[in-house]
Amino acid sequence: MSGVIKGVKELIVKVQFDDDPPELNELLVVNNPNNTNLMVEHFEDNQIAYCLNLNSDLTLKTGQEVRRTSQMIEIPVGDKIIGRVLDTFGQPLDGLDQIKGNVPMKNILNYYKKSEQYKVSKPQIMETGIKVIDFFTPFVKGRKVGIIGGAGVGKTVLTMELINNTSKNSSSLSIFSGMGERIREGHELWVTLRENDLLKNTALFFAQTNENPIQRSLIGLSAATAAEYFRDNDKKDVLFFADNMYRFVQARNELSTVLEQVPNEGGYGATFFSDVKTLQDRLSSNDNGSITSIQTIYVPADDITDPAVQMIQNEMDSIIVLSRKVAEQGIRPAVDLNSTSSSLLTPEIVGDRHYLLSVQVQALLKKYESLRAIIAIIGESELSPTDRSDYNKAKKLIANFAQNLNVMTKLTGVQGEYFTLEETLNSIEEIIV
Ligand SMILES: Nc1ncnc2c1ncn2[C@@H]1O[C@H](COP(=O)(O)OP(=O)(O)OP(=O)(O)O)[C@@H](O)[C@H]1O
Ligand SMILES: [Mg+2]
Repeated sequence: MSGVIKGVKELIVKVQFDDDPPELNELLVVNNPNNTNLMVEHFEDNQIAYCLNLNSDLTLKTGQEVRRTSQMIEIPVGDKIIGRVLDTFGQPLDGLDQIKGNVPMKNILNYYKKSEQYKVSKPQIMETGIKVIDFFTPFVKGRKVGIIGGAGVGKTVLTMELINNTSKNSSSLSIFSGMGERIREGHELWVTLRENDLLKNTALFFAQTNENPIQRSLIGLSAATAAEYFRDNDKKDVLFFADNMYRFVQARNELSTVLEQVPNEGGYGATFFSDVKTLQDRLSSNDNGSITSIQTIYVPADDITDPAVQMIQNEMDSIIVLSRKVAEQGIRPAVDLNSTSSSLLTPEIVGDRHYLLSVQVQALLKKYESLRAIIAIIGESELSPTDRSDYNKAKKLIANFAQNLNVMTKLTGVQGEYFTLEETLNSIEEIIV
């Protein structure tokens, strides 16, 4: 049941097993004072296991003995993790006691199959209180929303507002997955949740920039495992927030560099399509319950054609695009109204009134863009009366979609706003009719 370390290179540890080799993904323990944990990544020649050094232990040496455990990474799930902040391995990050005792444990790599027979019931819309979102990208139970944008355009702030507003509104449970972002942001989120008394129905998982790429690439799976358990065992509707899904691809990428795998077109690791798909498929609904996910997607160098960005975007039902140009005009949330889109904006889902308004608004916003180009050349006074009226309506609409957020109140001193869907639709009707 044991092997010997034959080589250590960065996060990869080569272990030779002469007989009884371990399983793929099995946890191994080094016979050293740290009891270092390794995880089998792949095999070469059936005898050499290439293992991941899960905690980046720098003391490993060739010749050390490695024992099998016949176990994979398991995390605690269920009620006891509610209100807690955990790492990839289910260890506490909040300074409170370890979660143990009579707690169900789940293997984070034990993929649930996406249920194909799942019958989609009548779409259920969840109000977010954020006008621009409720109008352009309605939140539908069990579906996926992406918040996409470059650095510092407001993805995290908008996600926090959504957690704040949706958790207050519903009896669902929220799981937050902090993936490869700044440590400070995790702390701010925790403080916000605590202040708003929302920790009682939230569990948080974090592997931020300070963690190695192994943990950053696994954290989404750990959080998904917790969400699946609440959905399947407790028949709950789960809200799943991920910040930032792009960092998952990036972490997988760093790992494949360490593993010397040849990248594919676009410079991403060879398996990135299936890695993204596997995680996204786990964030799905079945007959037990639903997982509604809200995922931020960082756009590197503001290049929206990046293959990873495109790939993640394709998995979403709705995309909220945040733009630097809009932010520079002082409009918050800095949503690019013309690029934001949703496949759920249909009469069947949102009803005729909302749908017809959305068609009219989108037409006005498109027209506004082309009129702006004309005005830049000939001036506003040269426009026909109809064009001038449409131009002004569009300007009012754009201003109407700006709003102060509750999670910013403490920082800016400006009271946050919440609009019911009815209020949002009324305000738009007043402008365009
Ligand atoms: N709705 C808002 N109202 C007021 N200020 C905002 C708003 N959204 C963002 N900001 C300001 O912009 C800053 C950056 O926002 P945020 O951290 O959400 O960006 P991000 O897109 O998550 O960036 P990164 O890609 O670096 O994580 C915030 O700290 C805040 O000061
Ligand atoms: Mg952020």
